[in-house]
Amino acid sequence: MNNVKIVATGSYAPERSVKNSELSLIVDTSDEWISSRSGIKERRISTGENTSELATKAALKALKNGNIDPLDIDLIVLATTSPDTFTPSTACLVQAAIGAENATCFDVSAACSGFIFALNTASKFVMTGSSKTALVIGAEVLSKILNWEDRSTCVLFGDGAGAAIIQKSEENGIISCYTGSDGTKAKAIYCPATGVVNPYVEGKKERVNSFVSMQGKEVFKFAAKIIPKSVEEVLKDTKYTIEDIKYIVPHQANIRIIEAAAKRLEIGMDKFFINLDKYGNTSAATIPLALDEMVKDGLLEKGDKIIIVGFGGGLTYGAILIEWLI
Ligand code: UT7
Repeated sequence: MNNVKIVATGSYAPERSVKNSELSLIVDTSDEWISSRSGIKERRISTGENTSELATKAALKALKNGNIDPLDIDLIVLATTSPDTFTPSTACLVQAAIGAENATCFDVSAACSGFIFALNTASKFVMTGSSKTALVIGAEVLSKILNWEDRSTCVLFGDGAGAAIIQKSEENGIISCYTGSDGTKAKAIYCPATGVVNPYVEGKKERVNSFVSMQGKEVFKFAAKIIPKSVEEVLKDTKYTIEDIKYIVPHQANIRIIEAAAKRLEIGMDKFFINLDKYGNTSAATIPLALDEMVKDGLLEKGDKIIIVGFGGGLTYGAILIEWLI
């Protein structure tokens, strides 16, 4: 098996920032409620760019940061809950936009855990020799599938994209991966696609609007338990303990979920990287966006061990223990 490492990151978020106070103009909410219940202060909202465009901008930045030729990319795995189209995959749209004509491309659907599932999948391609240089992206325009009349969901989410490029390497940067799913909790975070409506179906059926709905409290309880469990699982059977980890980079959904996880793990909040105040929950994009911001802020040094950990619709969850080798 080959070793794999992250060689570059990139990210992009739409220009338009929407503060909590602005949302109180369209739904019955307040800055006080949103900040105290979630920690979110603002989010970026697309004013026309679709998911593939955000993803392309993040990918181009990663290629530039890594000084990598798009023709060297032989695999694109893109995680999204808000694709441009049923078909083609958003990964194929990015391929065409960046000129990565040698790549095999597909999307991964694992909601907010999407980047973890995509990075796990792509790293297995590189480990087995099926890929040499893979582009992994988490990208969302959630604003197009939010119900802007539902205050319990629309205030929490935002749009954005993040990318990482991985390559076969001498040293091992992807130390261990842990993932899981619980389809019995499918309705906890739900967004329907089109129903079966055709001339051969008996009885009248109406097409449904594809909006996100969520059982917030259920998801909260699940997340507060599954983050610590995923962190413990990904450390298991490695030589590392939580003390060796410089940063935990959690899915950025709610500061109170992260506080509850920190308490269970008996570690300080200073171990967690947090930027949800600025971007809200961008689903599959939160973790790669955070990684790129950490790189820009100079927080990561060669040899640092970090854990990325997420949970989301499915329900899905997982974590990856990474040695930073850039
Ligand atoms: O990527 C995974 C995505 N999902 C999550 O991570 C969600 C996890 N869950 C959460 O983050 C929290 O459960 C929420 C932030 C969604 C909600 O916080 P909560 O403390 O669980 O509040 P709640 O749902 O119990 O609502 C409390 C009250 C309710 O009013 P009543 O029934 O007590 O009168 C809601 O109607 O707050 C009301 N409410 C709001 N008020 C002002 C709900 N949304 C809003 C709002 N502004 N935006």
